[in-house]
Amino acid sequence: MNVQENYEQWLKDFADDQETVRELESIRNDAAEIEDRFYTELSFGTAGMRGVLGAGTNRMNRYNVRRATKGLAAYLKQQPGAAERGVVIAYASVYGGTENAANILACRLREQGVQVDMFDTSVTPASYILAAAFRFSHVVLAAPTYNGGVFVTMENLLHDLTAHGLKGRRAAYIENGSWAPTSARGMQKLLEPLNWETAADTVTLRSALRQGQQEDLERMAMQLAESVKA
Ligand SMILES: Cc1cc2nc3c(=O)[nH]c(=O)nc-3n(C[C@H](O)[C@H](O)[C@H](O)COP(=O)(O)O)c2cc1C
Repeated sequence: MNVQENYEQWLKDFADDQETVRELESIRNDAAEIEDRFYTELSFGTAGMRGVLGAGTNRMNRYNVRRATKGLAAYLKQQPGAAERGVVIAYASVYGGTENAANILACRLREQGVQVDMFDTSVTPASYILAAAFRFSHVVLAAPTYNGGVFVTMENLLHDLTAHGLKGRRAAYIENGSWAPTSARGMQKLLEPLNWETAADTVTLRSALRQGQQEDLERMAMQLAESVKA
């Protein structure tokens, strides 16, 4: 929008605020004043956000205070301590091996009093899982290796997570693969732009849980519980 369009937009948006409307109407024929008030937006300097009081994007007023507050709130919401303490488990599974491991992990976590929300990526739309990931501090991603990559519905979810730029989460991974399991590495690679910390050792399945692997899941649950409660 150019300066004049900004000015007209303000008149429209603040139509219910007679004081602002009067102030803006009083400069209608003063191009230099309109230019000065609308050519840019107030920004933060070393002493915070400062400006002359008045109507306009380049003045200090309710609009700019609201804009700064909204930005600060969005930043705070992305900080690790801001999210509710709990774990979202998102799993993908074709034959049930990964799903079984995800179920066991959920049980072990709940036994330790950790709040858990669990989703099957092949059934639940990514937007619902995304909402839970925004809510909780920790995310467990469990998926089979599929043609050397990550099973498609999980891949889709991870693209969505990175597209939304969800920062400040702690993650753990369960991978599955019958001959060369690489999905944990694949999931971590897809999530690289988010810089998530890892909260537990990765558990690797070869098709299904083998003897002794219950302990791997128990260890993952302990590490996650510690991290959630830290
Ligand atoms: C189409 C297809 C492709 C697969 N590609 C791989 C692969 O690249 N590497 C691997 O180790 N396993 C691969 N697998 C095996 C699966 O990862 C394995 O069956 C796994 O146990 C599936 O997990 P689930 O029991 O949770 O469905 C593939 C399976 C299918 C059906």
